[in-house]
Amino acid sequence: MYASFRSVGACVPDEIRDNQWFTQRLDTSDEWIIKRTGIKQRRIAKSDEQTSDLGVKAAQVAIKRANIDKKQIDLVICATISPDYMCMPSTACLIAQKLDLGHVMAFDISAACTGFIYALSIAKAFIESGMKKNVLIIGAEKLSNIVDYTDRTTCMLFGDGAGAAIISSTENKDEAIVDVQCSSDGSLNDLLMTPAVHSDELSCMQMKGNETFKIAVRTLTSDVQKIMEKNNYNNDDIDLFIPHQANYRIIKAVGEALGFKESQKVLTVEKYGNTSSASIPMAINECYEDGRLQPGTTMLLDAFGGGLTWGSAIMKFSPNI
Ligand code: ACO
Repeated sequence: MYASFRSVGACVPDEIRDNQWFTQRLDTSDEWIIKRTGIKQRRIAKSDEQTSDLGVKAAQVAIKRANIDKKQIDLVICATISPDYMCMPSTACLIAQKLDLGHVMAFDISAACTGFIYALSIAKAFIESGMKKNVLIIGAEKLSNIVDYTDRTTCMLFGDGAGAAIISSTENKDEAIVDVQCSSDGSLNDLLMTPAVHSDELSCMQMKGNETFKIAVRTLTSDVQKIMEKNNYNNDDIDLFIPHQANYRIIKAVGEALGFKESQKVLTVEKYGNTSSASIPMAINECYEDGRLQPGTTMLLDAFGGGLTWGSAIMKFSPNI
């Protein structure tokens, strides 16, 4: 059995928060934010809209596009660093319940911005082992809950949103996810952390931005080189390079080091900012909706985030199984 990437969906909250919102409250400027990050807007969820609600909306789109009966879903994995509740219940359990998926196995994973790639790797392993057939993976974040809006060095980076995908079993090797690789380095845990979720001043994300930036560029570049070499792929074999959308300058530096053409690079950071685990599936969804993602399109994903964690994947879009 092989695992295939069958469908994608996303939820983009309605409220647009532009750079002016930050310039009115903090010592910063539209020019600084655009020049250093490439971000012009991000989306913000409503106060009564939780991470699980965003995840449900994205999942509904992915399930519809996969054209399967939702009762065929036998595993739900939600990647998030902004869960509805601190430790339990998991956001995946809430999503499964809101979607009426019955007593399906459901759990969350915490791998920050690499969460979607980690979830993809777990889904692939469950399917290849024969244990599951249709896995719903979700990256969902209400980061506005854990952003310190007095910290000008981090708050303008982040936004809310969710993306989801159905990963299904197939016997056709041509449709298979080619490879997913995931790594971590806990010795650098202090670069990005949320000291205590949902309590006083320690409940917000803290980041050593500049150090993280440099390590991100180096690590992402070498990680992509590794997965490409391992699978004997070159740049011409890739249709869409879909990196985690943290900062335009990171994507530009990594894209240049790897030699990808502009037409191969997918960029959504300008519109949505950094939505952590949601950013890659939201970007894949954007490509689906504007027609860049077609059956057989080969995608290269890569991400880097708190933990530290990082990972890459090479896969085809295989909607027709
Ligand atoms: N407006 C104006 N000036 C600012 C602002 C602001 N919003 N923020 C910082 N500055 C100032 C700093 O104080 C500093 O001033 P100084 O030179 O007088 O000391 C100057 O701008 C430069 O600051 P740096 O931190 O060096 O700026 P940098 O170019 O590194 O950009 C940024 C900061 C955007 C945060 C960048 O470092 C970054 O994107 N880092 C990586 C983020 C990332 O990839 N995280 C991983 C994924 S996220 C996750 O896992 C949840």
